[in-house]
Amino acid sequence: MDIKLTIDKAYGFVTPEAVSAYKARADKAQEMLVNGTGKGNDFLGWLRLPEDIRPQLKDIQATANLLRQECEVIVCIGIGGSYLGAKAVIDALSSSFAWLEDKKPYIVYAGQNIGEDYLYELQSLLRGKRFGIISISKSGTTTEPALAFRLLKTQLEEQQGKEAARRLIVCITDKARGALRTLATQEGYKTYVIEDNIGGRFSVLSPVGLLPIACAGFDIEQLIDGAARMESVCGTDTPFEANPAAQYAAVRNALYNSGKKVELLVNFHPKLHYVSEWWKQLYGESEGKEQKGIFPASADFTTDLHSMGQYIQDGERLLFETVVSVAEPNHQVDFPHNDANLDGLNFLAGKRVDEVNKMAELGTMLAHVDGGVPNLKVELPKLNEYYLGELIYFFERACGISGYLLDVNPFNQPGVEAYKKNMFALLDKPGYEAESKAIRERLK
Ligand code: PA5
Repeated sequence: MDIKLTIDKAYGFVTPEAVSAYKARADKAQEMLVNGTGKGNDFLGWLRLPEDIRPQLKDIQATANLLRQECEVIVCIGIGGSYLGAKAVIDALSSSFAWLEDKKPYIVYAGQNIGEDYLYELQSLLRGKRFGIISISKSGTTTEPALAFRLLKTQLEEQQGKEAARRLIVCITDKARGALRTLATQEGYKTYVIEDNIGGRFSVLSPVGLLPIACAGFDIEQLIDGAARMESVCGTDTPFEANPAAQYAAVRNALYNSGKKVELLVNFHPKLHYVSEWWKQLYGESEGKEQKGIFPASADFTTDLHSMGQYIQDGERLLFETVVSVAEPNHQVDFPHNDANLDGLNFLAGKRVDEVNKMAELGTMLAHVDGGVPNLKVELPKLNEYYLGELIYFFERACGISGYLLDVNPFNQPGVEAYKKNMFALLDKPGYEAESKAIRERLK
């Protein structure tokens, strides 16, 4: 069994012929990915990562075991592609109440914002605790993680001493360039390399995602097995009609060209919230360029049906929805009978809670289709490492194809630099003197 894509609830909005019309271009996009002849072809290392990473798995697991033994808390420092994939998988597989359970080590995150209160609270939490740090930055120069790393490295050295801290810090960065590489080499930290040809948002199946996921106690071999399986399912040997990545890329482009400019990734499983956050970065940074691209948004159902449901059902008709559905929960809760039935819920007695959830899912899908929102569905048989591995590779492969269908370079992110330039100018970073002067003039 594999994850399964269903697109028939889009057919009232685009015809099967309109989707099939993408066949030649999707085949061409696949060929460009595999042969490295398309835009951004120096960033295709993710394509074969499921196989290429296998030789490193034992070493990654050994490092994770060491950190797990020594630490009550492990802080993963990184932003964007350097943290979202790990957080997506760890949240999807962890107890919803992990903080209240005595299952150490806890995984926490830093460097994904510049919130002073966040960092103060994190530093307070770590005071007196045995903690470790995984510092992740491909460029090794990103401000948010660099700032957090300096703060937490200082704290760790003060608490544990410099020697002990050295064993508890792992850096994941470029093999030669960047401040983090220089620092790690000089301090003698254990490091892993993010290969040149793997962009941040495509790096979850590299040490970037695998080390934190292994530190959280999850099975990275299974994750990679699932991804490898999807690599073959979505490969060029599978024809367009049976290829889920090509079909998803085609149908979302057909919908986009019919006026559906926003894709809402929704789930009925609260643990998938960060899968949506990871997906938003993957598609937003890959496709949102040259004044085009589907806007990736997300919602958690049924929670957000009580806040965003009105707009989705009745607002401007620019949305289509992709439901990430989990066929079978990992646990069972049966709804009890009550003789008094004061809450009027005896019609649910004897049913599993998931049956109620599934009827909410089906009811929502039908209502939204009736309201003018095409629906796609990606179903995972269960929420586990293997199927998350499949899901990750499926979305990555489809993203590459979809970006080429849109005729953009899916593997760069030039727009991300604009805010950094202004921030550095405003903070008087050396080298930004001219920009500093210009921005201050503008603000007068
Ligand atoms: O996808 C990307 O390349 C970016 O979103 C990066 O992941 C993000 O900006 C973090 O960059 P770095 O890992 O260089 O610190």
